[in-house]
Amino acid sequence: MRKTSAFFVTALILVTLIGYVACVQQDQKANPEGQPVIQPIVPDSVFLAGAGSLAMNNPDEFNWTIFARICAKAPQQQPIGANKDTTNDAIWETWPDDPTTYPANPDPQNPPTLNKANLAPAAHKTLEPIQQQQFRRQLLLKNKLFHPQFAPVGGGEESRRNPASFNFIISNNLWYTQGLAAAFKKGTTNGYHPLTFPVNAIEIKAVWKSITRDSMSYYHWNYDSKGGLYGLVALHIMTKALPNWTWATWEWVGNPGRCDILGCSDTYGVNPAVVSPNSTPNQGYPPGQPTPQLLELFKKYGLADEWKNYRLKGSQTDWIDPTGRTTLLGNSITEDGFVQTSSCITCHSNASIDANGAVMPSLGFTPDGQSQNGPVNPGNFWAKSTAPYGALNYFQYDFVWGVFRARPAHNK
Ligand code: HEC
Repeated sequence: MRKTSAFFVTALILVTLIGYVACVQQDQKANPEGQPVIQPIVPDSVFLAGAGSLAMNNPDEFNWTIFARICAKAPQQQPIGANKDTTNDAIWETWPDDPTTYPANPDPQNPPTLNKANLAPAAHKTLEPIQQQQFRRQLLLKNKLFHPQFAPVGGGEESRRNPASFNFIISNNLWYTQGLAAAFKKGTTNGYHPLTFPVNAIEIKAVWKSITRDSMSYYHWNYDSKGGLYGLVALHIMTKALPNWTWATWEWVGNPGRCDILGCSDTYGVNPAVVSPNSTPNQGYPPGQPTPQLLELFKKYGLADEWKNYRLKGSQTDWIDPTGRTTLLGNSITEDGFVQTSSCITCHSNASIDANGAVMPSLGFTPDGQSQNGPVNPGNFWAKSTAPYGALNYFQYDFVWGVFRARPAHNK
């Protein structure tokens, strides 16, 4: 018995290693002159499926590897705006965004599709106010807790997903209300069958601020669909390499509140690895030195120098640490005002829908506009928070909050 399982474990490790090596080799080939040619690197099931161990045991390295693979420049760029400037799309910026995935007037007969190159037209970059901050503001106003000095950060956000995640949402009719109601029914008939995104799914949220041409070199820059010039200030990446996703957030090195309240921790990419928070907020932090291994990784994937202006603030893989303490992670831009309680994994676990396909109304916030954190409360989903739990009220949408945009399809 022991021997058989040892054999399977060895075989599994071997298959994973071969898959990983094959995948890495495919990314970078040399042309006849010996120059490395950067291939379009779309992370594939081989890398993500085989990377669970790295994601769990060395999350900072895993997250930087994903970052390098998807922040590489997209092979095709487009003219944009009245001046006919050229886009500076990273691979992830060619993926379908939220409004494409969850159309405002869904028509089940005409599901959203990827374009010819298997990607969405990047020219349609529409930036919106940070949606979770808009929601938080309404919640605080409703509960009479809104402080006049509370000013949501400016800038604009976009959320995008890779083709694996997009195809899962579209092919399972998870992009409009009636499809969600059907998913609830399917997931709760003859037992409980949770919704599970494919292991190669990636979801992104990016926040941009308006910049001038003379500061372009300090940012990953790009144009929105109107030709406005923007610099990236915050980037969230979640991947399904782990069952409850991997959680990581990057900040532009110059964000004044970058390591405020929670500090910064990156054991892979920067020296010093740990930065303590300042006692006064918004004073800025020394940039630190990117590590040689990070610079090597950037070189391998052909990342432009602009990406050296980003710092991994931290990685989160679980609700609690081994001693039972609640883990926290929040970005000074996206989670502004609730960094002190922010837990990506806990808040996102609440992404769920009821039997009618309506989204859980709290959006993961507490009534005073802070993040739920620590282990998820079963009572958020089931009739009771202790056993026997009773009937299911909210069906998890596998941690993806974009579901809040799903709208009812109107019969024609
Ligand atoms: C209190 C709740 C809350 C916390 C904490 C939170 N998020 Fe989110 N997140 C949301 C909501 C709501 C959305 C959708 C609305 C929007 O885009 O702002 C979202 C959107 C996203 C998206 C786009 C994909 C999706 O799920 O729709 C990513 C990626 C993401 N968040 C990652 C993170 C990471 C990484 C952290 C921690 C550093 C984090 N989030 C912390 C609530 C939260």
